[in-house]
Amino acid sequence: MAKTSFSCSACGASFSKWSGRCEGCGEWNTITEDQGLSSGPSKKSLGVKRGRTIQLTDLSARETPPPRACCGVGELDRVLGGGLVAASAILVGGDPGIGKSTLLLQAAARFAQAGVKTVYVSGEEASAQVRMRAQRLGLADAPVQLAAETNLRDILTTLEAERPQLAVIDSIQTMWADHVDSAPGSVSQVRAAAHELTTFAKRHGISIIMVGHVTKEGQIAGPRVVEHMVDTVLYFEGERGHQFRILRAVKNRFGPADEIGVFEMTGSGLSEVINPSALFLSERGEPSPGSVVFAGIEGTRPVLVEMQALIAPSPHSQPRRAVVGWDSSRLAMILAVLEARCGIPFAGLDVYLNVAGGMKISEPAADLAVAAALLSAREDVALPADTVVFGEISLSGALRPAPQTENRLKEAQKLGFTAAIAPGGSKTVSVNGLNLRKSGDLAGFVGEFFGAG
Ligand code: TYD
Ligand code: MG
Repeated sequence: MAKTSFSCSACGASFSKWSGRCEGCGEWNTITEDQGLSSGPSKKSLGVKRGRTIQLTDLSARETPPPRACCGVGELDRVLGGGLVAASAILVGGDPGIGKSTLLLQAAARFAQAGVKTVYVSGEEASAQVRMRAQRLGLADAPVQLAAETNLRDILTTLEAERPQLAVIDSIQTMWADHVDSAPGSVSQVRAAAHELTTFAKRHGISIIMVGHVTKEGQIAGPRVVEHMVDTVLYFEGERGHQFRILRAVKNRFGPADEIGVFEMTGSGLSEVINPSALFLSERGEPSPGSVVFAGIEGTRPVLVEMQALIAPSPHSQPRRAVVGWDSSRLAMILAVLEARCGIPFAGLDVYLNVAGGMKISEPAADLAVAAALLSAREDVALPADTVVFGEISLSGALRPAPQTENRLKEAQKLGFTAAIAPGGSKTVSVNGLNLRKSGDLAGFVGEFFGAG
């Protein structure tokens, strides 16, 4: 008799009995029953009875770099680590409606036009719908083979016969593996389907791009286990109401992680943004209190973004701390350091922090720019508009240098900035026309630029 097991849709942990709260990740109401599956999808799918001897090789054996295909969309090719690697499995995650299908249809068309034999399988839309979208995107003539199908066994059989170089599966949640008897979209189905597709990609030398919808907690629904299986995980993100979309590599076995590609959603699909700094700063007006430009690095590329802070007396006993595009616990830390090390209290004040343009920043080097925006808003003093700021703040109030100082400065100079504020220990680099000002610690920075502390 098949033993019933349960797993968490948030973290993928398995349990032998149901409970209201996952012991693995602490989430509530995420545990569901895996039907007809006791320990992972591989039990029934491995048709091998006895193992064979594996040939071992030397670590020093010469290896040629894997062949790559470029689609010509520079932002995508770069995020993939310099093109699509043959036989690799890629997961593209993102919120519903963010533009994943649009991106992948455009990518499929461009790969096909570049001579890569491409199949696009939609489990969500009918072929006619996909065709209409392609027409709207001006890609109706691209030599992409199309199917609307959810039965994984049929899809794999077809791919084996057709032998394309690239297959796009939109989406992993709609796929149905018939050796697992639970509903499409359930944890065990998603896990089984991703496993089958990944092994298929390796065995047959076909690159597979899977689309995965993300749950509201920000994980790919049915879950992190998919992320472990694939070679590359890309997240497609953006704020609703902004046209900018960011494709971010969070894992890449064939290239740098944290690389980003920037796109703009237009009436005719996604177009690449070659100079994101100019775009993120394009809506900037006169210098105003609370606004500071951060010279950041995303992957291999410098990106300038505006940090905006607003501070207002709070009518509540528990003042508000609201953050968009940055980590809220990091904000709490900066506020605590400002208070403890520089004697600047934020008690009784509501604090709002926003990264302009819908960008999400995770670099610690943004600390100093955030602190500057908070101080600037609190003291109602604007920093000079031609100044960028970067550096990490430690709990002691010391400033730590950030990597790639030179790249940050060069980008700032290219966009017309004439001054930069950086931690004292930063590498001394001279960039023409840019005045580099260094601060040893946060208190010194506060005293110099805001006359307080
Ligand atoms: P879609 O690719 O279907 O999102 P996902 O696959 O991630 O769910 O994109 C849907 C949104 O994109 C939809 O709200 C309309 C918008 N869109 C454009 O603005 N321009 C376009 O050319 C296309 C095709 C879609
Ligand atoms: Mg879609």
